[in-house]
Amino acid sequence: MRLSRRVTELVESATLAVSAKAARMKAEGVDVVSFGAGEPDFDTPAHIRQAAIEALNAGQTRYPSPASGLAVARKAVCDSLARDAKLHYSPEQVIITSGGKDAAYMAFHALLDPGDEVIIPKPYWVSYPEMVRLAGGVPVFAVGPEKNDYKLTPEILRSALTPRTRMFILNTPSNPSGVTYHPEEVRALAQILQERDLIVLSDEIYDRLLYDGQKTMSYAAAGERAYAQTLTCNSASKTYAMTGWRLGYAAGPVEIVKAMAKLQSQSTSGAATFSQIAYATALSADQSCVATMRAEFERRGAHMWRRLTAISGVRCPKPTGAFYCFPNVSAAYAKLGVRGSIEFAARLLEEARVAVVPGEAFGMDEHVRLSFATGMQQIDKGLDRIATFLR
Ligand SMILES: Cc1ncc(COP(=O)(O)O)c(C=O)c1O
Repeated sequence: MRLSRRVTELVESATLAVSAKAARMKAEGVDVVSFGAGEPDFDTPAHIRQAAIEALNAGQTRYPSPASGLAVARKAVCDSLARDAKLHYSPEQVIITSGGKDAAYMAFHALLDPGDEVIIPKPYWVSYPEMVRLAGGVPVFAVGPEKNDYKLTPEILRSALTPRTRMFILNTPSNPSGVTYHPEEVRALAQILQERDLIVLSDEIYDRLLYDGQKTMSYAAAGERAYAQTLTCNSASKTYAMTGWRLGYAAGPVEIVKAMAKLQSQSTSGAATFSQIAYATALSADQSCVATMRAEFERRGAHMWRRLTAISGVRCPKPTGAFYCFPNVSAAYAKLGVRGSIEFAARLLEEARVAVVPGEAFGMDEHVRLSFATGMQQIDKGLDRIATFLR
């Protein structure tokens, strides 16, 4: 079978082997503790489900019109951005997409020509480099110092810029590290980027999950120039425990949003109609469900981080957002005789029955990612096993 070169060259996720094995072991009845999940373990709140049921019963089952997003959903996005991020967008600056992933995917296709460079800070969300390559772009990786929790300093960002730089991706709070840029750090990056003719893709999918009093700022709020050069992406998935509903959005310059709408009209035709109506409810109704889930994640995250950093040789940035810990476990590699995070995760799964995601998938092979979107008991059970495994 001859497949396209594009797909043949696509790198398959290194995480798949471990997660497939964990699923196999679970199916065979093995008691595996899984820290692999990239999704909240809560149900979608009842009032959001109810809004979808009512929309379905009211006949909202036809093609979404327009394909770029229902007026009610786009207005709800604008209102929520004004309320939560102090960002003012009009509905024609917003496109509703089938998840945040789709928003990023279309943004790269709308903006990149072959050879255009995209600066991607490490550690990165697994999909960015492959999406950039699929769109013909060239990923350029940059990493900050460990003492800065890997956040980019202005100097490091400046040294990654070239005449071919077309985009910069900022994902704060970060998947996989849980690290968050402070408003001053966002402003310092904007100071440099505003001199350049490029677009910033600001992936703010975890922006409502902040801990420890952490403050952050939307990149687009860093100033007029930042606003004009930014595509702000977000999603229903993590904030409202709606991963299966496939809803996200991008907001930014009208030309980019229109280009993405053109792509969407020739691909998915837009996000499901009744899903969009439920998303409008999620964004505009009382937000206490978000506060409840956030508080629970904060409790679990602090506990997981305390337990991880109590293990000798393990170093880990404190998660101030999202729901992941990203410890450096490489001190144990020599003793275990493993060459990197994939082998480490495989051994941890086989011998300790704990599933984690190898850091190699996020561009940092000394680390593994643990999700704390799982109950406290599982966290303790898994951490007991990891501590014994590393002893
Ligand atoms: C940083 C980041 N961006 C985007 C996404 C995409 O999420 P979704 O397509 O479910 O909205 C994810 C999901 O894990 C993520 O972690």
